[in-house]
Amino acid sequence: MPLRPPPLSLYVHLPWCVRKCPYCDFNSHEARGPLPFEAYVDALLADLDHDLPLAWGRTVHSVFFGGGTPSLFPADAIDRLLQGASARLRFAPGAEITLETNPGTAEHGRFEDYRRAGVNRISFGIQSFDDGCLQRLGRIHDSAQADAAVKLAQDAGLDNLNLDLMYALPGQDLAMAIVDVERALALQPAHVSHYQLTLEPNTVFAARPPGGLPDDDQAWDMQEVCQAMLADAGYAQYEVSAYARPGRQCAHNLNYWRFGDYLGIGAGAHGKLTLGAQQAVVRRWKLKHPAAWLAAAGSAAGIGGEEFVAPQQRPFEFMLNALRLVDGFALPDFEARCGLPAEAIEAPLAEGVDRGWLRREGDRVVPTPLGRRFGNDVIALFLAG
Ligand SMILES: C[S@@+](CC[C@H](N)C(=O)[O-])C[C@H]1O[C@@H](n2cnc3c(N)ncnc32)[C@H](O)[C@@H]1O
Ligand code: SF4
Repeated sequence: MPLRPPPLSLYVHLPWCVRKCPYCDFNSHEARGPLPFEAYVDALLADLDHDLPLAWGRTVHSVFFGGGTPSLFPADAIDRLLQGASARLRFAPGAEITLETNPGTAEHGRFEDYRRAGVNRISFGIQSFDDGCLQRLGRIHDSAQADAAVKLAQDAGLDNLNLDLMYALPGQDLAMAIVDVERALALQPAHVSHYQLTLEPNTVFAARPPGGLPDDDQAWDMQEVCQAMLADAGYAQYEVSAYARPGRQCAHNLNYWRFGDYLGIGAGAHGKLTLGAQQAVVRRWKLKHPAAWLAAAGSAAGIGGEEFVAPQQRPFEFMLNALRLVDGFALPDFEARCGLPAEAIEAPLAEGVDRGWLRREGDRVVPTPLGRRFGNDVIALFLAG
């Protein structure tokens, strides 16, 4: 069964924030002094040039500026990067181009400039509309600033907006989690991401957990009630934490979850590419620290590591992504993206069905609600033996 290259995305990592949030384990660094926007964009384009042989002739279907806080970058820097990228790679017409934005950094007038640069989707890190929760999360904005930032984006003609919310926050109860979803819905976004707060290793919260954290049962109740509210308002859940109005799913994240390909440029960015001619899947990641990456970007020294994903590892990696999706995956896509026949996963599939975690629907494999709740156990069935 040959590997067939899936759609290609481009991820651009912009690693700085105004302040590091105590729960965050992303590759994000507090900005101390003026940021080297120009040098960083030059380095991103050099990084892209260096990666191009992995993706010659292919079309980019989505771009995602993630962070960190990409909205710290001025629109002309985003514009220069997008122009440079589209001179090097073909962009699909109407490609989704997302920019992550912290509401504490949204300055008047900037959204229109981002839109002119080609950005057509904004993802806001709202987290909560409760000012006490926002303070306990160490956020740099309050709820009024969050409302205002979203409205500024809408006034600038951007209608494809995502709002990130977190739940199971310190000091939060079910009623407060409900109000957060109500306030988000009042802004009529196209998409809502609803993440359970997790205490990630090597964060301030992991070292000193905040008081008043909801327990697992309370967190589960919040998830269930909020999911139903979102569904009633027309936002269908399509992934563990993602909800969208019809036709407004995030194309970029969907490509990850469908085990698509992506180039990753910028400090610590990860890429995954299918090399048709070599019948190989390769992962490549960049030096993590911004200063080290900046000094080496565009050369072999800027690469933090590279590894080939062996055929026997691919089913697990595929499932890690695809089983997050409410509608699962089609077996022919598994075959094309893993380069393996469906029979290679017949035994774990059958076991998943036996345990009530998976369902077969024609050529699709769909996780049941039970399977979604015990996602890690289901995925573990596909570990190479
Ligand atoms: C890179 S951040 C988004 C943009 C921007 N940096 C911000 O925070 O406003 C991506 C999102 O991941 C979520 N997130 C970050 N750390 C998390 C954690 N420990 N548990 C759950 N969700 C988390 C937040 O909702 C955050 O908005
Ligand atoms: S602003 Fe976003 S990326 Fe930056 S530290 Fe906070 S959660 Fe992490």
